[in-house]
Amino acid sequence: MTTLTQDKIEKILSTVIDAHTGKDLLSSENVKNITIDDEIVNVELLLKYPAINYHEELKGLVEESLSKAGINYSNISIKSKIASYAVQGGVKALPGVKNIIAVASGKGGVGKSTTAVNLALSLQSEGARVALLDADIYGPSQPRMLGVKELRPQESEGGNMKPVIAHGLQSMSIGFLVDEASPMVWRGPMVTQALEQLLMNTEWDNVDYMIVDLPPGTGDTQLTLSQKIPVSGAVIVTTPQDIALIDAQKGLAMFEKVNIPILGIIENMSIHICSNCNHAEEIFGHGGGERMASDSNTNFLGALPLQLDIRTDVDDGNPSVAKDPESKVSMMYQEIARKVVATLSLQSETVGAFPKITIE
Ligand SMILES: Nc1ncnc2c1ncn2[C@@H]1O[C@H](COP(=O)(O)OP(=O)(O)OP(=O)(O)O)[C@@H](O)[C@H]1O
Ligand SMILES: [Mg+2]
Repeated sequence: MTTLTQDKIEKILSTVIDAHTGKDLLSSENVKNITIDDEIVNVELLLKYPAINYHEELKGLVEESLSKAGINYSNISIKSKIASYAVQGGVKALPGVKNIIAVASGKGGVGKSTTAVNLALSLQSEGARVALLDADIYGPSQPRMLGVKELRPQESEGGNMKPVIAHGLQSMSIGFLVDEASPMVWRGPMVTQALEQLLMNTEWDNVDYMIVDLPPGTGDTQLTLSQKIPVSGAVIVTTPQDIALIDAQKGLAMFEKVNIPILGIIENMSIHICSNCNHAEEIFGHGGGERMASDSNTNFLGALPLQLDIRTDVDDGNPSVAKDPESKVSMMYQEIARKVVATLSLQSETVGAFPKITIE
């Protein structure tokens, strides 16, 4: 065997592709340190997004490419450092929150809230500190989906609200403040104010990612979001059928107009697997999200099945990813969540922000 050098190891690492960024470890600047003790190679990797559930697989990929080059003894360590990414111009950063990611759709009822809560839980399971803001002022659903609709926010020492902690997430929703059953008549400016207050008057505690669950469409809430809330990126949820795709396209165009980067498209209710006989059926068609992503030059983040327990789990206040993080569908949510934040990590970082080291 020829002598091992750092150079040689770097070359090998430049052939290992991270499935979430689509880039190799060397050019993504993930290689923090390489040391060589006799025949043992020690590699320290530093990812720019949290990925605990991907560590084993990535380690395997690195070991495989090392062993192809005749290196059979290695120690691979993987950690993550989450930075803060640029937001639309003229909007100030939110104290205590590094990154805000909006989950949006054009059409209603496509599964934004269900997807948002499961993505938030997924990011947490990957090792991040996560908040979930329910921006649906007319019809808040997160208190119920999180199983905490009886809870009310506590007052903080500074006279603000503390987020309601649910399944480990820091959450806030108008649903914690007003009675679910009493109909609310909101006019545009009231919606704007309510949303701003929920966001600004809550003491967020050292959050890496805040997921914002938006109401459908392109109305007052979206306008407030685009003008007043520091958003680093948006994710569009759609179902596969044409009618939803047309609306999703409108949602996408709106974010582009206000310079909020689209991180990608998620196709929800993509395929139905019968819980009785396992028969797969494409109720709303299939592949529309992927086509839309390629047509509009954005990322396709993945597809989620139309599956009975996804609904019953959120109805029970125990979303699938919290209930069984190792189920097939939870792993799908986790993979999509990693892709969302890996895509964000390709944007430009905010200058002067202090990144936190996440110990994993
Ligand atoms: N993949 C899925 N499989 C099965 N049921 C789902 C799935 N995704 C969402 N649902 C169910 O579909 C219904 C609508 O979902 P959800 O409330 O998340 O949509 P939404 O886009 O947030 O709606 P709105 O536009 O009203 O805010 C809910 O009953 C939810 O449990
Ligand atoms: Mg919703």
